[in-house]
Amino acid sequence: MSTEFSRGLEGVIAAESALTYIDGQKGILAYVGIPIEELAEHSTFEETAFLLLHRRLPTRAELQKFQEELASQRPLHTHVMNVLKALPHQASPMALLRTAISVLGHFDPTPDDVSSTALREKAIKLISQMATLTAAIGRLRKDQEPIAPDPTLSHSANFLYMLTGKKPDAAAARVFDVALILQADHEFPASTFASLVVASTLSDVYSVISAALGALKGPLHGGASEQVIKMILEIGDPARAEQYIQEKLARHERIMGFGHRVYKTYDPRARILKRYSHQLAQQAHDARLFEIEQIVEKTVIDALGAKGIFPNVDFYSGTVCYYLGIEPALLTPIFAVSRIAGWMAHMIEYLSDNRLFRPTTRYVGPPLGHYIPIDQR
Ligand code: CMC
Repeated sequence: MSTEFSRGLEGVIAAESALTYIDGQKGILAYVGIPIEELAEHSTFEETAFLLLHRRLPTRAELQKFQEELASQRPLHTHVMNVLKALPHQASPMALLRTAISVLGHFDPTPDDVSSTALREKAIKLISQMATLTAAIGRLRKDQEPIAPDPTLSHSANFLYMLTGKKPDAAAARVFDVALILQADHEFPASTFASLVVASTLSDVYSVISAALGALKGPLHGGASEQVIKMILEIGDPARAEQYIQEKLARHERIMGFGHRVYKTYDPRARILKRYSHQLAQQAHDARLFEIEQIVEKTVIDALGAKGIFPNVDFYSGTVCYYLGIEPALLTPIFAVSRIAGWMAHMIEYLSDNRLFRPTTRYVGPPLGHYIPIDQR
């Protein structure tokens, strides 16, 4: 048995997977062999979710059926909605989402069935419900009544409709769809690893996804997107951007939305989102935030690019959502609305050849000794 130690498991290969390929030096990302740029150009979130769950693209008939199944699973169970309504609406949306997913499990007649057939069915339900729950959380936060899903709309258009109450135009729905495609999987980040640690014990899918949500919530992972947009809004004026970042760097603070454990170059997802962020800024006749981002990006790359620190996916996802009228607090839940596809795909894949995750620690405590009775201490 190897006794090598790597802090944070950096560089450790902890599983084999046929889902997502990343070349962090060259900035390449592909799902099941298809480059992310091509999926962003030609695919839809529904088709990408199918690709991940089945490790192949669907036929037209399969895609149609998959879309219908997803749409049929959108409505929330009344009791789950009642629990959500009973919770403090201003609590962390990620914490609310984690609770709601747990509650959902109590209404599944076969929560412990982890066969691949059952997991593919549960995946459809969870992908649909993650969107409905996030939209409901977004509305309750504003003291608005949640909106029932519209089965005639696509996954993305329906999400925006349930959140805002307005049917989005095709361009807005497409931008949001691309954002979901880009975040649907990413190999082995903390959330996916956490989920598979739980899955490897043969626990139920609701425990698995709760663990993933808990990991995603942290600011070093999915929580970064909310911090980024808050920072951009706080800067507020392009004229302040460079100095703001220089001061942060001088204080050795991390700039959210930059750096990545795997990418040591520009994150390919950020490159695509940057283009959309620019487009949306032009359409909104409000380039202020995009301009601030340009200065922040240049300042950070000038200072840290040599160290391999470049924008990651979270840097531009914030402004894309901001221009779509989505509040910052919902950015991390929206990450989950997308990543649920990847989490479920990994769970199905990993359990097809399960091995309990049980690493070990290097002991650095006191040498073997003896118990000291309390009156002799
Ligand atoms: N700002 C300033 N310096 C940074 C940053 C940053 N965002 N990221 C890394 N560094 C520096 C770090 O201080 C260290 O410098 P030194 O070698 O002088 O001590 C060096 O780069 C290496 O950093 P590290 O912490 O060893 O690298 P890591 O692989 O553990 O970090 C990371 C990965 C994502 C935790 C880190 O880059 C970070 O904290 N970024 C900000 C948070 C963020 O944007 N997270 C989203 C990640 S992508 C989407 C997702 O996974 O959800």
